[in-house]
Amino acid sequence: MSAALPKLAVRDLHVTYRGRDGKDVEAVRGVDFEIADKPGIGEIVVFLGPSGCGKSTILKAVAGLLPASRGEVLLDGKKVDGVGRDRGMVFQAYTSFGWLTVRQNVEYGLRLQGIPPERRREEAEKYIAAVGLADFADKHPKELSGGMKQRVAIARTLINKPKLVLMDEPFGALDPQTRWGMQGLLLDISAKEDNTILFVTHDVSEAVYLADTVFVMAPRPTHVLHRVDVPTFERRDLALKSSPAFRDCEKQLLDLLYAKA
Ligand SMILES: Nc1ncnc2c1ncn2[C@@H]1O[C@H](COP(=O)(O)OP(=O)(O)O)[C@@H](O)[C@H]1O
Ligand SMILES: [Mg+2]
Repeated sequence: MSAALPKLAVRDLHVTYRGRDGKDVEAVRGVDFEIADKPGIGEIVVFLGPSGCGKSTILKAVAGLLPASRGEVLLDGKKVDGVGRDRGMVFQAYTSFGWLTVRQNVEYGLRLQGIPPERRREEAEKYIAAVGLADFADKHPKELSGGMKQRVAIARTLINKPKLVLMDEPFGALDPQTRWGMQGLLLDISAKEDNTILFVTHDVSEAVYLADTVFVMAPRPTHVLHRVDVPTFERRDLALKSSPAFRDCEKQLLDLLYAKA
């Protein structure tokens, strides 16, 4: 028996939305998985499933934004019951504050924690540079492109050093080129931060490119169909995406996603 507690354990998670008209929507039925901690390394775990299957619902349950109808979410062995600073979420819609500058947005979480201005500023500089926005620190979100706004959201989340970063199709609204750039950025960041990123997507190529582990999800009401450990590619760059090893992995995931039940 392994002695270490899993970092995250989701056990028999069920979520049913109670419709006001009396029609319930069962979104999640029996989602069960564990993610072990790998000390000192960041890890990206991808949830890959068709639109509407219940992926966002799982993330919201892990975030503590939604109660489980049945089952539980355990973080370091402790039952999740509401939101907490140990988890940070990045949504597809850009969620930075429009009235704050990039710097103020990124500092926001530290301000809430009562960290003194100088240390806040220093930390913010680091994260703003990490997402490539050093020249835009004093701009407001409306002056930025979609990709840049999403960089702000990522920096704003990471500065709080959450153990779990929950990302819900964060690059879904970006054009392909920007999206590839952001995927590269995320890999760089993940290599430096000792956190675990739960990343939701319906894009097979994005899953292979980013993931250490992919959970292939069933259509609604969703559950885990397969767990696939993605090969550790020597270098993850754009050329990789057209390589045979990468294509094989994409094909494997596609087959699992669309296998006839
Ligand atoms: N607040 C809600 N109230 C009722 N039904 C919802 C709500 N949020 C999501 N759903 C339904 O739950 C199912 C799963 O949604 P979601 O988790 O957003 O899927 P995904 O993120 O995989 O696209 C969908 O059928 C959706 O319509
Ligand atoms: Mg969703």
